[in-house]
Amino acid sequence: SSSSSRCSYEEYKETVDWLLSHTEQRPKVAIICGSGLGGLADLLEDKMLFPYKDIPRFPTSTVEGHASRLVFGKLQGRECVCMQGRFHFYEGYSMDVVTYPVRVFSLLGVETLIVTNAAGGLNSSYNVGDIMLIKDHINMPGFAGQNPLCGPNDERFGVRFPCMSDAYDRDLRALAKQTAAEQGCDSFLQEGVYCMLSGPTYETIAECKLLQKLGADAVGMSTVPEVVIARHCGLRVLGLSLITNKVVTDYESNEKANHEEVLRTTKQRTQDLQKLVSHFITKI
Ligand code: 6GU
Repeated sequence: SSSSSRCSYEEYKETVDWLLSHTEQRPKVAIICGSGLGGLADLLEDKMLFPYKDIPRFPTSTVEGHASRLVFGKLQGRECVCMQGRFHFYEGYSMDVVTYPVRVFSLLGVETLIVTNAAGGLNSSYNVGDIMLIKDHINMPGFAGQNPLCGPNDERFGVRFPCMSDAYDRDLRALAKQTAAEQGCDSFLQEGVYCMLSGPTYETIAECKLLQKLGADAVGMSTVPEVVIARHCGLRVLGLSLITNKVVTDYESNEKANHEEVLRTTKQRTQDLQKLVSHFITKI
């Protein structure tokens, strides 16, 4: 069970103390870069790179071809810390491992978390390449007993029964919309509900129809555990989904969800997303 790998406050502290002694930067913003969206971290100035494998107690990533490191630096003059490469539940990591970095950020003094991901579009009015501001989420693994807060609660992080109705900060969303308008991104900016499934399979047609009926606008395999842990410890959250493909809801269709299309769309829109996040960050 997930509780066997539960991390103690002291473990997070060990990671945090090591980072604090290895950089003088004290970012107030953390960014989790989704698959193919790690280019954002390359834009930082005065970078300090910490491969996950060098950070005490930090989980390590198995996926080849992914940078897996924390990047401290300045984006448009604002100090921030980026995760280049995140941990996915479908890789076999427990919820504790998936969310480990978020508590590290909190203990580092971070106050705002920006999360990005690639997602399938469920809302029929969405286009491939749209950017969706996450307004709310459906924690499907949570329904199935995989909530990262299952297990003993450490009050030093937060309360036993945290509120999730305000998970995606309204003021940050307003600021993101304003930024999108200024950056010419508003023609492809959407706002909607993100549903997390564990993956790694893409959805069946019946599952896509179900998710649409449930009120989800986009579906993906990440983000929700990190947001739950972030809200538990009081971080403000902005979530952005890049709609990389449209889900298949028609039995006559020959379309198939596939990783190549996801990567292709990510490549096409990654610049816009980078521009949006880097200008957004100057406003908070
Ligand atoms: Cl169609 N489904 C899921 N679960 N994740 C995705 C996706 C689809 N497209 C990108 N990520």
